[in-house]
Amino acid sequence: MSVATSAAAAFQSNYGSDPAGLWAAPGRVNLIGEHTDYNDGFVLPFAIPQHTVAAVAPSTEPGWTVCSDLVNESVSFGTTGPGELDGWAGYVAGIVWALQDAGFDVPPARIALSSDVPLGSGLSSSAALESAVLTALVELGDIDLPVAKRPGLAQRAENVYVGAPTGIMDQSASIRCEQGRALFLDCRSLEVEQIPFDLAAEGLAILIINSNAPHQHVDGEYGARRKSCEEAARILGVPALRDVSVDELDAALAKIDDEVTRRRVRHIVTENQRVLDTVALLRAGQVREIGPLLTASHVSMRDDFEITVAQVDIAVEAALAAGAYGARMTGGGFGGCVLALVDAGRADETTAAVLRAYEDKGFTAPTIWPATAAQGARKL
Ligand code: ADP
Ligand code: GAL
Repeated sequence: MSVATSAAAAFQSNYGSDPAGLWAAPGRVNLIGEHTDYNDGFVLPFAIPQHTVAAVAPSTEPGWTVCSDLVNESVSFGTTGPGELDGWAGYVAGIVWALQDAGFDVPPARIALSSDVPLGSGLSSSAALESAVLTALVELGDIDLPVAKRPGLAQRAENVYVGAPTGIMDQSASIRCEQGRALFLDCRSLEVEQIPFDLAAEGLAILIINSNAPHQHVDGEYGARRKSCEEAARILGVPALRDVSVDELDAALAKIDDEVTRRRVRHIVTENQRVLDTVALLRAGQVREIGPLLTASHVSMRDDFEITVAQVDIAVEAALAAGAYGARMTGGGFGGCVLALVDAGRADETTAAVLRAYEDKGFTAPTIWPATAAQGARKL
């Protein structure tokens, strides 16, 4: 059964009627540009075909009711403030709150969710949920919120209501990505460029390798990285690490006493440059040539930003040994997914090599599938 069909069926069985419409929003992988978003830097995600569908109808009763077939639970709430509703329904209440806080009237509604985005794997299931619900409520309530402003509102729900100190990449990807393109986003100006990204035409594939590694310390470590970056920007007297170029890096590092902070800065500054270099190669149609940049990004996350774990390092090494052009962890880190750029004809061989490497180390098998660049949030 498709996700859309499940969402409609969940709506029917929970509320005894048909939804007014179905709204879908995808998960994402980030091709390159990790932890750069909250440093006002550059990112290059693309949407994946896995998505969350919200089946929604306006309600004559006040308040909102939401159910999700992934958690088999239904939650009702009225107007709430940040943090008042915790757990998964907090993401939905957060969107309602963020809309109200921006001065909009939010229509009372019933919502049924279904999704095939793996939860907590760094593929942004939470942003997919937020973006599907936001798009639905904006359309149903005839709310005048331009598409370009929606990611920031969804990010507020996540930062302020849910309390996760994330950047703007995930919601931007889920809302603004286009099929067959990667989204080059300047996280300071919020300007976007849709970069053609047709892997099949080049005889290439990107494998997503979900390490299935248990997420540990994710929130605390993420917040700690963010704090280090902000502290470094303060020491350097710049608004954000985005303002340090690769040419200025050595001089900047000389001003920072703490060795760990120096490495954090080096990751962000070099990673921003790698995004720009990747975009330049893609614009020139040199897709294979981005491989070394992907791998360099991984090494930087492993050694300088220190956000990888054994399972993702092993996946990267095994994919490269099997002939991948490049491979890197994608997403916030401490587990989650790896992406590997391979010749389409070598996808099976690479998959087998990664599975073997996990088996040799006694790790739970990863889940591996080819990614294509899918469409962002939309009404079905
Ligand atoms: P990621 O966004 O990378 O998947 P997070 O830990 O940020 O990981 O978000 C995952 C959380 O989002 C889940 O634990 C759950 O609370 C919530 N969530 C996401 N999608 C759904 C869904 N379809 N139904 C219910 N909860 C969901
Ligand atoms: C995600 C976070 C994003 C981004 C990413 C790392 O978990 O939601 O905003 O910072 O990590 O690039």
